[in-house]
Amino acid sequence: MRFYIKSYGCQMNIYDSQRIEDILMSLGHKKETEAENANLLIFNTCSIREKADDKLFSDLGRAKILKDKSAEDDFIIVVAGCVAQARPQDLLARYPYIDMILGPQDIQNISDKINDLVENKDLDALVLTNLNASDKFEKFNKSDPVSERSVSEYLTIQEGCDNFCTYCIVPHTRGREFSRSVREIISEAKSLVSSGVKEITLLGQNVNSYNGLDESGKNFRLSHLLWELSSIDGLKRLRYMTSNPKDVDEDIAKAHRDIDILMPFLHLPVQSGSDEILRKMNRKYSRERYFEVIDMLRSYRPDMAFSSDFIVGFPGETDADFEYTLDLVKKVKFSQAYSFKYSPRINTPASKMKNQISEDIKTERLRRLQDILNQQQSDFNKSFVGKNVEVLLTKSGRHSGQLVGKSEYYQAVTVDNANGLSIGDIVKVSVIDAVSHSLIGEQI
Ligand code: SAH
Ligand code: SF4
Ligand code: F3S
Repeated sequence: MRFYIKSYGCQMNIYDSQRIEDILMSLGHKKETEAENANLLIFNTCSIREKADDKLFSDLGRAKILKDKSAEDDFIIVVAGCVAQARPQDLLARYPYIDMILGPQDIQNISDKINDLVENKDLDALVLTNLNASDKFEKFNKSDPVSERSVSEYLTIQEGCDNFCTYCIVPHTRGREFSRSVREIISEAKSLVSSGVKEITLLGQNVNSYNGLDESGKNFRLSHLLWELSSIDGLKRLRYMTSNPKDVDEDIAKAHRDIDILMPFLHLPVQSGSDEILRKMNRKYSRERYFEVIDMLRSYRPDMAFSSDFIVGFPGETDADFEYTLDLVKKVKFSQAYSFKYSPRINTPASKMKNQISEDIKTERLRRLQDILNQQQSDFNKSFVGKNVEVLLTKSGRHSGQLVGKSEYYQAVTVDNANGLSIGDIVKVSVIDAVSHSLIGEQI
C-alpha cells in the first residue's frame, strides 16, 4: 500500500514511526509524504496534554474526507500511539471510520494486521492495546534501517515509566519501565553509525534509571552504557533524554567530564520549584535536591548547560508556590526550556484533586515564567557572541550558502558562507550574532 505517517508528541514517537516505516518499506509498501497520495494513513499520536488530543481530532476529520473521496478498494486509517492506548473505545465511538487502533507497544503488528484487513473486508475495527514493550523490540530488532536516516538520530533504550507522577498519562499509555539489552542497543547504534549517523540521542522516559542486561547477565547503568557506546568508531556525539532529577548520580556527572563525545547539555525537567507542589506531583525530589544535582554536574563539567520542563497551575498551586518556581529559575539559569499549563488527564490522580487552578491564572503564570525563561535563553546565547562553538551540520539553511546545525550546548546555529561544508560535518564556528532562539556564525 501507499502509506502516510504522521507523528505527534515526543521523540519516542518519532523513533517508533521510523521503525514502522522500516517494517512497512521492507515489505514493499511505499512511503508518501502527502496524505492525499496515500491509501494507508497512520497517526502516531500523543496524549500528554489536551491540546495534543485535539490535533488528532482535526486530522481525523480530514482523513475521513480523503477516505470518502477515495475510489480504492482498500483505504485504511490507523490510530497508533498514546491516544490510541488511553481511549480506544472512545475513539471508535466518535470516529467509526477508524480501521485500526494500536497502542504504543503494539505498533510492530501493523503489517500483519493490514493484511488481515485487506484480506477480510468484513472485519470490524482492530484494537490492539497490550502493554508489553519486549514484544515490540523483538520485532524492531529484526527490521533493518531501510527508511532515510539523518546525521542525528534517536535510539530508544528504555520504554514506559514506573514513576506515576500524579499529572502524567505516560505510565498509563506506555506501560511499565522496560530497558532494552546492552547488545541490542550497541548493535542498533553501530548500524546507525554505518549508515552515516554522527550523533545519537538515547531515549527513555526516565533514562537515568536504565537497567539493562549485558551478555553475561550483569546489570548496566546509563553511565556504563554511555562508556560502551563512546567506543563506537565514527560516532561523534552522544546525548540522552529524559532525566529525572531523583535518579541522576555521580557516575553520570563523571561521564560528562570523561567521555569526550558526551555533550555538555542536559534536559533536566524540574516541573515546579515548590516542595509542596513537587510532593503533590509525586516527583520524589525536593527543590534542594534539584540544586544539588545541578551543582554536582557543574562541579564535574563547569560549562554544562541545562534545559527544563515546567508545569504551571498544578492543582493547589498558590502564588507563593509559583514564586518558588520563579526563584528556582533565577538561581539555576537555564539555556532553554519548555513550559506548559497544567492539563488534566484521564485517570490521573491530579485530575481529581481539589483546588484546580483557573485558566486565567494559568495563562498569567505561564506568561511570567516564559518571560524569564526567554530572557535567560537570550542571555545565554548572547554570551557566545565573539566565542567559538562546534556545530554538527544537520540541514540546509533558509538562504543559499547557509547550513544549520546544533552546538555542543544544543543551541541552533546558522552557519553563513558554508560553501565547501556538508551536512554531517562538525565545524568550529565563530559566533557573530545571537538572534531570538539561535546563533549565527562563520566557519573559522
Ligand atoms: N519523562 C519526562 C517527561 C515526559 S512528558 C520527565 O519525567 O520529565 C514531557 C513533559 O510534559 C513533562 O516534563 C511535563 O512538563 C509535561 N507534562 C506532562 N503531563 C502534563 C500535564 N498533564 N499537563 C501539562 N504538562 C504536562
Ligand atoms: Fe510522566 Fe513522571 Fe514518568 Fe516523566 S517521570 S513520564 S512525567 S510519570
Ligand atoms: Fe506523548 Fe506518549 Fe510521548 S503521551 S509525550 S507520545 S510518551
